[in-house]
Amino acid sequence: MIPESNFLLHGADYNYEQWLKRKDILEEDLLLMKKSHMNVMTLNVFGWSLLEKEDGVYDFSFLDERIESLHREGIKVILATPSGARPAWLAEKYPEVLRTNSRREKELFGIRHNHCPSSPLYRRKVREMDERLSQRYGSHPAVVMWHISNELGGECHCPLCQENFRSWLKDKYGNLDNLNEAWNTAFWSHTYTSWSQIQSPSPIGEYLVHGQNLDWRRFLSDQYISFMKEEIDAVRKYSPSVPVTTNLMYFFEGIDYVKLAKELDVVSWDNYPRWNAERDSFSVALDTAFFHDRIRSLKGEPFILMESSPSSTNWQNTACLKTPGMHEASALQAVAHGSDSVQYFQWRQSRGCSEMFHGAVLSHNGRSDTRVFSEVSKLGEDLEKLECVKGAETRNKVAIIYDTENAWAIEEIQGYKMNKKNYHETLVSSYAPFYRRGIGVDIVDQSADISSYSLVVAPMLYMVKAGFTDKVKAFIDDGGVFVTTYMSGIVDENDLAFLNGAPGPLEDILGLRVEETDSLPDGRTNRVEMDGRSYINRDISDIVISEGAEVLATYSSSFYKGIPALLKNGNAYYIAFRSDGSLEDDLFSRLSSELSLPSAPFKGEKGVVGVMRGKYMFVFNFSDKDSRFTPDYPMKDLLSGRSVEGEVELEVNGVMVLEME
Ligand code: GLA
Ligand code: ZN
Repeated sequence: MIPESNFLLHGADYNYEQWLKRKDILEEDLLLMKKSHMNVMTLNVFGWSLLEKEDGVYDFSFLDERIESLHREGIKVILATPSGARPAWLAEKYPEVLRTNSRREKELFGIRHNHCPSSPLYRRKVREMDERLSQRYGSHPAVVMWHISNELGGECHCPLCQENFRSWLKDKYGNLDNLNEAWNTAFWSHTYTSWSQIQSPSPIGEYLVHGQNLDWRRFLSDQYISFMKEEIDAVRKYSPSVPVTTNLMYFFEGIDYVKLAKELDVVSWDNYPRWNAERDSFSVALDTAFFHDRIRSLKGEPFILMESSPSSTNWQNTACLKTPGMHEASALQAVAHGSDSVQYFQWRQSRGCSEMFHGAVLSHNGRSDTRVFSEVSKLGEDLEKLECVKGAETRNKVAIIYDTENAWAIEEIQGYKMNKKNYHETLVSSYAPFYRRGIGVDIVDQSADISSYSLVVAPMLYMVKAGFTDKVKAFIDDGGVFVTTYMSGIVDENDLAFLNGAPGPLEDILGLRVEETDSLPDGRTNRVEMDGRSYINRDISDIVISEGAEVLATYSSSFYKGIPALLKNGNAYYIAFRSDGSLEDDLFSRLSSELSLPSAPFKGEKGVVGVMRGKYMFVFNFSDKDSRFTPDYPMKDLLSGRSVEGEVELEVNGVMVLEME
């Protein structure tokens, strides 16, 4: 991924611009970076106003100095393009770069991540900056990666964006008749008779035409991808062989990340789990594991953990500290799931403004004899011992379908349980049975090639896109097992209902049809019986009619008592109700053994988790207490160098990296 490097990256966002008047601090930084075993720094994320103090007047001397100094110390540089925050002079001189919000208010200069992605002027200024960076640093031996912008996303509703939206629609639909049909605009007399009538969704205007909302989100996503591509072209101009990334965010759906990832050489993301806050460590680990897997699956290759907090995260409701050991467990969790780096936001705590209390490797006192600094340094040493893990691939037999457009469509639904659709929660609870058993999972969308998996789980696949059904048919014919659930097969890509009713195009595959769906108020539950076991049913219950599918479980309460609740049609399963996860746990456990899915070779107490990456097994104690596990056979622990055999004690937050046979 990074030419010539065979080590795991360990580093931080280095916002040196905030310390230019403190030469002593800049000097000290280098010493402390070495002391904490850092080998990479991300520079220039917010460096624009330092590099271009007025229009067209560039000064790279400070950046030159920092890159050279880091290079002298053997520290690599991930160089960011600074388009995530623009200088004040630029906004003042060219107001077109400012965003207009959905209420059509023009925003003032301020904060960051707020440029209009359509503005030709902004794109030009960014390109000019990026080309200069590329020319100056693109073949510098310290520069190992380009970091495009920062956490891309957001909306602009200015006239330029409206115009681009309309041309995007013209390209897609050709004529208004097609558009009106796709958007079902005959509803509430919304038929458009001229392109100029179409606007982006707004709380003071149109926001209830689902097709329009979906297309606006698709358009926005395409806009950001095209903005990013322009930046990629600019940095590649003089630097064709340095890989390019941009930093992604947890469950962020403003951009279709599957599409975006195709343009990147390396995927990276910013991970801020709420360790030690509202939930137990296992639940946080589960959620985080899901997202690491999602990020890895975007390219099916190792990724980069671009940001994480070395201690607390100031923007969370409660900025909890990580308990001792959690830093290492959290960092190595990323590595276990495919990261070739552990990086932080940020190196040194800012002196002022909104992030002055965000955790950092160095806090305001700048001391290196702190708990955080020593945990960071210890991790740095351990990452050096784990060099061999770098580049190791993960190959899984299970895929969960998490589809961004499906998520958008689910958000549009006005029905079922309005405030408890819980798509993300359902994805994670479908992932949990595998995670608990040390079975690796890829997280892909409907465009993925699913032919190499043994089991594909598609929870709440509300929107079924053209082509997906045929893919599933072929997968099943090939011996694959497919599982889907309630709220699946309801709409097509335009958010129009399938006219055979749910599960729409999946009807033949599943051998059933959904006649009605009941939504349960909070506190009201049904029961479902299977093989003498009883399961709780909350929120959603489909009333299903089998058209040949075998009935594996039935409701045992309510007026639909006796109606099928879990069905199997050959290799296709339909879960008709939302449980507390226990039905999935039993079903996936059974399927895992039937399909002999590979699992991490160990037995552990509750909360001890095994994650396989290549020939390495990472074992974590996320149980919030000291716990035990037993590897299936003697293995070498890469961190201690010792062989591990029989029952092992793993202290709270403990982690071991074992080499499997
Ligand atoms: C994001 C940003 C960083 C910083 C961190 C704080 O990930 O990219 O610049 O603001 O959040 O958690
Ligand atoms: Zn705009």
